[in-house]
Amino acid sequence: MKGNFKTEIFKKIDTPFYYYDSELLRQTLRTISQEAGKHPEFCVHYAIKANANPKVLAFISQAGLGADCVSGGEIQAALDAGFPNDKIVYAGVGKSDWEINLGIDNDISCFNVESIPELEVINELAAAKGKVANVAFRINPNVGAHTHANITTGLAENKFGIAMRDMEKVIEIAADMKNVKFHGLHFHIGSQILDMGDFEALCNRINELQKQLEMHHISVETINVGGGLGIDYHHPNRVPVPDFKAYFDTYARHLKLRPGQTLHFELGRAVVGQCGTLVTKVLYVKEGAAKKFAIVDAGMTDLIRPALYQAYHKIENISCDGPKQTYDVVGPICESSDVFAKAIDLDECHRGDLIAIRSAGAYGEIMASQYNCRKLPVGYTTEDLAKIK
Ligand code: LLP
Repeated sequence: MKGNFKTEIFKKIDTPFYYYDSELLRQTLRTISQEAGKHPEFCVHYAIKANANPKVLAFISQAGLGADCVSGGEIQAALDAGFPNDKIVYAGVGKSDWEINLGIDNDISCFNVESIPELEVINELAAAKGKVANVAFRINPNVGAHTHANITTGLAENKFGIAMRDMEKVIEIAADMKNVKFHGLHFHIGSQILDMGDFEALCNRINELQKQLEMHHISVETINVGGGLGIDYHHPNRVPVPDFKAYFDTYARHLKLRPGQTLHFELGRAVVGQCGTLVTKVLYVKEGAAKKFAIVDAGMTDLIRPALYQAYHKIENISCDGPKQTYDVVGPICESSDVFAKAIDLDECHRGDLIAIRSAGAYGEIMASQYNCRKLPVGYTTEDLAKIK
C-alpha cells in the first residue's frame, strides 16, 4: 500500500524536499500525551537532534513536551521554538564553554554531565555568574540494545557517560562543589529499539543502581532514561504511530521510582520519524549492464541514513501505477555509497515521476549537508502546501 499524497501539489514544488504530515505529527503527539499522561511522574522531552525544523519544533513545543539538546545551537533552537527553559535538558560528551554559558544564562533545567572534567568546568562557569547549575550524571549502564552497531550507545566500549563503578565518586565530588547541584541520573542505551526487553533491562539496571545509592544514603530527584523507541520503517502506513503504550507501560511496570521522583524521557525518532517523507524526482532511468537504475534528484546529502547505516526506507513511485520493475535507486552525488536502495520493485519509473522516500522525518533534513555544493532541502508542512496555488 502506498502513502496517500497530494501529488498534484507536490508537482508544483522544486524537488527534492521534505514533506511533513502535520496531522500525523499531531496524532503522534496526542498519543504521547495520552499514554505518558497516565503516569503523573512522567515527563517527556523531545530530542531536538532528530529534527530541528522550526515548524516541526513549534508543533512539539505547543504540545507541552520539554526539549533534550546536545549543543548550544539546539538550546537556542529550543528557546526560539518556545520550549520553556525549565523543561530543557542538555547532554553531550563535548560541551564547549559558550554552550555551557548559554545553558547557565537561560537557567535550563539540567546539564547531563558525562565526565568529571566537564563537571569542574560547569561549576567554574556557574560560579563566575553567581549561579548554581543542576546536574545529572549520564551513567553508562552497559546495557546493549538490539539495534545497528553505529547507534548503540549504552555499552562499556562507547564514548558516552560515566562508568557505573564511578557513580558514587562523581556524586560525592559534585556534593563538595558550591555551584552545581546534583539532581539525578541520566541514561540512554541506543536508538531504533523495538524490543521492549531492552528497555526492561535498563529498568532492572537502574533499580540495582538506586539500591546501591541508597546504601550510601544518596537520594536522586530525577531519573532520565533517554530515548530510543524505534519506528516501523517497513510499514509506515500500517504503523504510523509507534507503540507508546507498550513503551511507557514497560517503564511504569519495571522501574521502581521512589516517592517524589520524576521520570524523564528523551524521544526523537518516535516523535517525528513517520510524519516526514523525502520527495524526489526521477531524472533518468538508466539501463546498466546488469541492472536498471532509477537516478533521482535527491542524494545522500539530503538523506544520509541509507549510505551511513545501510538503513532501510520504504520507497514508492507516487506518480505512476504501472507494472513493477526492479531498480537500484541512486542519487546524483559523486560517491558510490549514494544509494537509497538496491534491487527494489517499483511501479515502472519514467523521467519526471515523483518518488517518496518514507519515514524520513527523523535524522533526515537535520543531517543534510551541502557536499557537492548542493542546496539544502526545504521542509514543507501540510499547512505550507495548502498555501501553494
Ligand atoms: N537522548 C540521547 C542522549 C541521545 O543520544 C539520543 C540519540 C536521543 C536521546 C534520541 O534518541 P531517539 O529517541 O531518536 O532514538 N542518526 C541516527 C540516530 C542517532 C541517535 C543519537 N542519539 C539515525 O539516523 O538512526
